Amino acid sequence: MKLKRLLALLLLCLALPAAAADPLVLRGRYIVQTSGCNTCHTALYGMLGGNVPESDWLTGDKVGWRGVWGTTYATNLRIYMQSMTEEQWVQKGRTFTSRPPMPWFAIQAMSDDDLRALYRYVRSLGVAGKPAPSYVMPLVTPRGPYVQFPLLPVF
Ligand code: HEC
Repeated sequence: MKLKRLLALLLLCLALPAAAADPLVLRGRYIVQTSGCNTCHTALYGMLGGNVPESDWLTGDKVGWRGVWGTTYATNLRIYMQSMTEEQWVQKGRTFTSRPPMPWFAIQAMSDDDLRALYRYVRSLGVAGKPAPSYVMPLVTPRGPYVQFPLLPVF
């Protein structure tokens, strides 16, 4: 029995640093930190100068973005990434478009390795939080808080 426990402990010690040392996970963290995903996908991140525990990163936000497109909510990426494989995400990242203000073009501009890194990092954080509120159609007033964009572009 003791030996079994010892072996289990040894295996754990070997496995943990291996997961943490996946260079793509670290690169994914770097991409998230430097490309601003948290500003919208983590509640209060921008307002607190990024001073939000990593365990809450990318759990989405219930503050809406309202404009001619309706009202959108930054997705909970910790849940979102569970719904697809790494390959499916890479395919999606290359091609997807989305409603404002999501910078989908920034994702499309990423290399396959960057997309993989992003995926592995988000998956490494595990599932957390609740799904963000659903999209609200144009001209319908959202129930929760939202940021209002001008209805017509201002020149
Ligand atoms: C300016 C705010 C903003 C920033 C910055 C931002 N997002 Fe988003 N993101 C959103 C919003 C809002 C949505 C929901 C869009 C919708 O409902 O169509 C979204 C949706 C998404 C989706 C789901 C797309 C889908 O419909 O399948 C992914 C994936 C995503 N964002 C990843 C990222 C990543 C990765 C970054 C950083 C590189 C990032 N976002 C930066 C606001 C933002």
